[in-house]
Amino acid sequence: MRNLPKWDSSSDDKINEAVYRERPMNVSQLSHIWAEVDPVVWLVTSRYGNASGGLIATFVNQASIVPDCPRIVVGLSRQHHTWGLIEASGAFALHLVDEEHVDWIWRFGLHSGRNADKLHGLDFDEGQTGSPILSEARCWLDCRVEARLNTGDRTIYLAEVVDADHRAGSPILTVQRLLQLACVAASGERRVEPR
Ligand SMILES: Cc1cc2nc3c(=O)[nH]c(=O)nc-3n(C[C@H](O)[C@H](O)[C@H](O)COP(=O)(O)O)c2cc1C
Repeated sequence: MRNLPKWDSSSDDKINEAVYRERPMNVSQLSHIWAEVDPVVWLVTSRYGNASGGLIATFVNQASIVPDCPRIVVGLSRQHHTWGLIEASGAFALHLVDEEHVDWIWRFGLHSGRNADKLHGLDFDEGQTGSPILSEARCWLDCRVEARLNTGDRTIYLAEVVDADHRAGSPILTVQRLLQLACVAASGERRVEPR
């Protein structure tokens, strides 16, 4: 199998422009603004040849409300292993993570899958696009990349949703709820206040 694409930041001047540009605005105001929104937490998986992987993402948004033209936008850092899989395969699957599967956040969101199989031991099927779809996920979308925009260290993908499934279950994780659960886990408390 050919090597997965790797982002070479040294050949990309845009990241330096974007990250290190002097800003006339008060950047601390931005953190107050971000605190007003509570994004949903998604699991993104992809496969190319016999390599597969996944990551946690909050930069995910519905891009069309036209029912027979479902589109989604996802923004991923080009340093991630999963980014290379999506670049090579042109496809990914998205899963909403519910509270029952908070362990997926630690498994997929805290370290790189470049040298480890993050899907090891999990049940999954292959979607229409070939992307892994976790059997225990209560909501998922199978997506094919239609267009991409490279902006410094990120690629923003516009993708067509080719298949999806939904079933009821425990509440879907948001960042605020995740932080709450992580604090409880760190303090060793047993009782978690329901939302
Ligand atoms: C709550 C949370 C939200 C995240 N959101 C994003 C995101 O929107 N885009 C992104 O590229 N990475 C995001 N990450 C980081 C990746 O999930 C993480 O770096 C992952 O380990 C990359 O794995 P990979 O190298 O195996 O692809 C997020 C992580 C967490 C914990």
